[in-house]
Amino acid sequence: MRRATTFDVMRFFLGLTVILLFVLAQPPATLASAGAIQEKSASSKPETKPSDYAGAEACKTCHEEEYKSWENSPHWKTTLNTKEGPSHQGCEACHGAAASHVADPSDTSKLFLFEKASAKDINQRCLVCHASGTQHMQAINSLHAKNDVSCTSCHSPHHAKQAEFLLVKSQPELCYSCHLQQKAQFAMPFHHRVNEGLLQCSDCHNPHGTAGPHQLRTSAAQDAVCYKCHADKQGPFVFEHEVVKVEGCESCHNPHGSPNPHLMKLSNVNLLCLQCHTTSFANAPGAPSFHNQAAQFQACTLCHTQIHGSNFDKDFFK
Ligand code: HEC
Ligand code: HEC
Ligand code: HEC
Ligand code: HEC
Ligand code: HEC
Ligand code: HEC
Ligand code: HEC
Ligand code: HEC
Ligand code: HEC
Ligand code: HEC
Repeated sequence: MRRATTFDVMRFFLGLTVILLFVLAQPPATLASAGAIQEKSASSKPETKPSDYAGAEACKTCHEEEYKSWENSPHWKTTLNTKEGPSHQGCEACHGAAASHVADPSDTSKLFLFEKASAKDINQRCLVCHASGTQHMQAINSLHAKNDVSCTSCHSPHHAKQAEFLLVKSQPELCYSCHLQQKAQFAMPFHHRVNEGLLQCSDCHNPHGTAGPHQLRTSAAQDAVCYKCHADKQGPFVFEHEVVKVEGCESCHNPHGSPNPHLMKLSNVNLLCLQCHTTSFANAPGAPSFHNQAAQFQACTLCHTQIHGSNFDKDFFK
């Protein structure tokens, strides 16, 4: 009887904890939806009149440095956009209507201040003009955006270190400042020559996001990113090595760097092949029994040379 009671008490507390957790889980959800509503009303622009805007020339006297950097950047071109008017022109296209600030410089309450804004608000601000085109289509949902990496983590309209694309740093240092693991990979003995300037991270990745995994670019035909430069591996071949097409190059190669020649995943090619070509692996035929132990000493690719596919032989000999 006593034991049953203790058990019941435990169950009661367990139940209570579950309910408590459930209740605790609620407020953020409701807060989030409240936030969403607030945001909506904030982004549905408060009515601004042309007289709320002062124009870029009005800023020049007091913010000479910012004015110069703006004038020398591609953003001066916004002044040509007479169609959408002052809300899309000059300084105020990014900082918001500033006539009241010009009248009273200490009043910065209506300005959009990037240093104080959230990543989400910054992205939204820039995407007013940069959301179109294949390059930026996914920007709002990119892994960067979702992890609070904003446009201004990589770009600076006023203090760019690299004039082209207004980058805060040039590649690959820009990317390495956050991606240390990849820095180590490109330092391996065999690597795509990114550090040497032959390729860039952005040849393979779109930092603004893609529809596919790992923000990887695809070719125009939506094929794997690798075919852009290694077209000879694409085929079509009469005899495809199914794994190349289905699982991709990464099943055998490390795309960034590797301790092994040809960026191979394993130092021993045979072990790589035998990962799939054993009798226990369902999709690939096991290596035939005459491939006896010599296989350990003779590379599989010594005979199966056309490992990416062949037009002449089903076993990729030629
Ligand atoms: C008469 C001088 C004057 C003019 C004209 C002026 N500003 Fe300012 N601005 C200031 C001063 C002073 C501050 C600092 C205010 C403060 O922090 O209290 C400031 C602050 C700012 C800030 C915030 C800077 C920060 O460090 O956060 C922005 C953005 C800004 N101004 C944009 C503009 C724009 C855009 C215009 C033109 C439409 C403009 N200003 C015109 C004097 C001026
Ligand atoms: C493309 C958007 C954009 C435009 C156009 C723009 N700014 Fe900025 N401004 C920013 C961002 C982003 C920052 C934060 C610093 C940075 O990343 O460069 C900033 C920062 C500032 C600051 C704070 C001090 C500083 O240098 O960091 C001032 C003042 C300012 N801007 C004024 C201006 C003036 C004046 C103009 C027009 C001549 C202008 N801005 C045009 C985006 C813009
Ligand atoms: C992780 C870093 C990173 C972030 C975050 C980022 N960019 Fe970029 N952006 C780059 C790099 C690198 C380039 C140049 C190489 C390229 O074209 O991909 C570039 C190029 C651009 C270009 C010029 C090229 C083109 O095709 O239009 C624009 C415009 C641009 N970015 C806008 C944005 C905007 C807007 C955001 C925020 C929504 C943003 N970027 C976020 C790194 C970044
Ligand atoms: C009012 C519209 C507008 C806004 C807002 C805007 N841009 Fe731009 N941006 C432009 C135009 C126009 C160009 C020039 C395009 C061209 O040269 O064809 C440009 C060019 C760029 C480039 C390419 C530079 C190059 O060297 O090719 C980058 C990067 C960029 N913007 C980033 C940003 C970022 C980051 C923000 C937010 C802080 C932002 N833009 C906000 C209109 C805008
Ligand atoms: C030759 C094309 C190529 C280049 C150049 C490249 N990457 Fe990658 N990257 C890939 C591929 C392919 C994957 C997916 C790997 C997988 O599926 O296992 C990837 C994956 C990633 C990942 C996800 C984590 C991981 O390692 O799987 C990050 C982060 C990354 N790359 C960052 C970078 C950075 C930073 C640079 C430049 C310093 C860069 N990449 C250059 C092809 C490339
Ligand atoms: C300000 C920090 C920062 C910078 C700069 C930055 N990244 Fe990232 N990146 C992140 C974060 C955070 C994530 C999401 C978490 C993760 O997957 O590591 C991410 C994710 C990625 C991914 C997807 C990783 C995956 O697991 O699928 C790739 C690819 C990538 N970044 C490439 C780049 C490239 C290329 C550059 C330079 C042009 C760059 N990043 C610059 C912070 C950054
Ligand atoms: C089944 C494993 C496997 C897959 C999948 C694979 N490779 Fe390979 N790859 C190899 C092997 C093994 C070598 C080394 C060949 C040798 O030693 O002769 C190699 C060599 C290479 C080389 C250097 C030598 C040459 O033939 O040019 C390149 C480039 C290459 N692969 C690119 C790719 C690309 C691109 C893909 C994806 C389309 C891919 N590989 C998919 C196994 C593979
Ligand atoms: C922007 C062009 C480009 C893209 C995209 C690219 N590569 Fe490469 N790749 C090269 C170049 C150039 C070399 C030769 C590098 C050198 O000589 O250092 C190379 C070398 C290689 C090698 C080693 C060849 C050898 O003989 O050792 C392999 C393997 C390889 N790439 C696989 C891939 C894979 C897998 C992908 C996709 C994830 C890919 N590459 C995407 C340009 C590219
Ligand atoms: C990730 C799994 C995987 C790896 C690694 C792999 N293969 Fe394959 N291989 C396959 C699949 C799947 C097929 C297609 C089987 C089919 O068509 O029924 C195949 C087919 C083959 C064939 C043709 C078999 C036939 O149908 O006549 C040969 C030969 C072959 N592979 C050799 C190799 C060699 C050599 C290596 C190492 C360089 C290798 N494979 C690495 C999965 C793999
Ligand atoms: C000395 C040359 C040689 C070496 C080394 C070699 N093979 Fe073969 N492989 C062959 C021959 C010959 C055939 C049979 C062709 C036939 O019967 O049509 C074959 C057939 C295959 C097949 C097709 C089996 C089927 O059922 O269609 C696979 C898979 C295979 N080898 C994998 C491997 C793997 C994995 C290695 C390395 C561990 C390897 N081979 C090493 C010569 C070789």
